[in-house]
Formats: sequence, structure tokens, C-alpha cells
Amino acid sequence: MRNQLHGAQPSLSNGFTNITNFTKVAPVDQNAVLIKLKTLKTTKTSQVDLCFSITTGIPLRRVIRKSCVIEKMAERERSIINGPLADVGAIPKVLFFSDCRPELLTYKFITGRPLYQTYTNRHTPIQDVFKLFRATLLILGDIHSERIIHNDLSPGNLLIDKRNHVSIIDFGSATPYGCSEFLAIGKPHYASPEQIEHKPIDARSDIYQLGCVLFETIYKTQYLDANNRPYNSIDVFDNAPINCLLKLMLDSAQSKRITSSQECINIIDNLIYNQLV
Ligand SMILES: Nc1ncnc2c1ncn2[C@@H]1O[C@H](COP(=O)(O)OP(=O)(O)O)[C@@H](O)[C@H]1O
Ligand SMILES: [Mg+2]
Repeated sequence: MRNQLHGAQPSLSNGFTNITNFTKVAPVDQNAVLIKLKTLKTTKTSQVDLCFSITTGIPLRRVIRKSCVIEKMAERERSIINGPLADVGAIPKVLFFSDCRPELLTYKFITGRPLYQTYTNRHTPIQDVFKLFRATLLILGDIHSERIIHNDLSPGNLLIDKRNHVSIIDFGSATPYGCSEFLAIGKPHYASPEQIEHKPIDARSDIYQLGCVLFETIYKTQYLDANNRPYNSIDVFDNAPINCLLKLMLDSAQSKRITSSQECINIIDNLIYNQLV
């Protein structure tokens, strides 16, 4: 799967740190050598590594390398990011793609930590939560206006930097509107009812998933259990104004659910304007 180059390990320097504990991995991109620093995540279908990219005359830069076992999986991801989503900000750009086996994607590194390491596990003033979700909904609106469904929104796929800027990552399950060729089964705790029932998905499916993430960020407990059934009715939680929004995002009937990111933003703005949160 990976061609590791052995021998005495030289030490690399980016001018600040000497990096000695690394693995040189191939394939390289057209001009650069990738040095793997650590594996961030391994699943049955993919592995995500944090690497340094070394190109002559260019300072070392961090990149993310994703290797995908399932045929065409990385290619789908790349064709969506570099195609319809090419002009959408706050999503990582693909720097390099290789269709060897496994398929490899090299991404621009985004500084930031996943939401589950930041917002969902610590108390955050509600105004800050709304600012973050407002920004996330703006990006999601841009994605939907390109007729793409992200299909895998979860606290691991939102990265937050020190200045609370948010990026949406992981387009491995993303799919164009109306495409029935690829149906994601949905991740435990974040799947919409239509994903579980293998019914057609649309922008409302992303709204539902983001509703699960918003619920968790506010109440510090997951909305859905591992079988994707709500643990509790939203009504047992006490914040009535926020619950209006959550109920609209989390309606199990797709037809009754809020239809667009912009409508969610309008409700958030209304809650803030009327000082209800
Ligand atoms: N472009 C990126 N910049 C920084 N970190 C990233 C980037 N892409 C992925 N990661 C990190 O790797 C983890 C797994 O990547 P992801 O694309 O979500 O893979 P998976 O499909 O296995 O969930 C993320 O939760 C994040 O911490
Ligand atoms: Mg992910």
C-alpha cells in the first residue's frame, strides 16, 4: 500500500523545529516528497495521515493525505471538491490526486480542531454557539447552492480554528442533488431518517444532521442514540427559544423539516435580535 523508504533518517528543518520522527512515503506528488508525521484516523475504508510536503525552494508545509480503499471513492470526493465546490470557501482544497491503489488525495491542511474537541465538550456562551452555527450554515448554503449534499455532517467534520473560524471537511459521502447511484448509510448518532430508510436525500438531510450537531453543542449530550433514534424528545430540554429552531431542523418527517440553511439563519438572527438567547 505504501512504499516506505528505509535507511538512516535525516533530520528535516523548517527553520523552527527539527523533525526527526518521520516516515518518508510514496507516491509523491508531481514535485513534492511527502513525509508522514502521524496517522490521524483509520477506518475500514480509508486512512488519514498528517504529512509534511517538501518541495525544493518552498518552505515545508503541512498537508493531509487520505488513502481510500474503495474504488472511485477518492475520485468522487475530488471531482466534487474541484468541480462544483471549487469556488466555495472554508472547505479544504485538493492539492493532488492519484488513482493508483489505494487512491490517494492530498489536501491543504486546515488549522483547527474538530468541534468534538472544542465546542461540544465545554461550556460556550450561547451567543458564540449561534455565531459558529450561523457561519457553518452560510458555508452549507454555498454547498447547497451548487446542488451538492454533504451527507456526513458530524462534530468530527467541522474544524474550528483559534479565532473560531469554521471549515467543513470530509466530502467522502457528498453527492449531487438527485443522484441515486450513491446512498450513504449515515453515521451512528447523526443519520437522518431518510438516510437510514434509504430514501432520497436532499439539503434537508444535511439540515437534520447539523441539527443533531447543534443539539449536542447546546445540551452536551447527543440527540440520537447509536441506532439513530432520539434519546429524548426535545421538549424535555429546557431552552424554549432554541428548541423552536431545533424542532424545525430535527423533524423526522423530511416534508415538515426546514428546507434551507438561509431559513435557519433567519431564525437564529431573529432569536438574537429579540434577545431570546
Ligand atoms: N484538510 C484537513 N486539515 C486538517 N485536518 C484534517 C483535514 N482533513 C482531515 N483532517 C483531520 O482528519 C480527520 C479525519 O478526516 P476525514 O476527512 O473526516 O476522514 P474520515 O472520512 O475518515 O472521517 C478529521 O476529523 C480531521 O481531524
Ligand atoms: Mg470525517
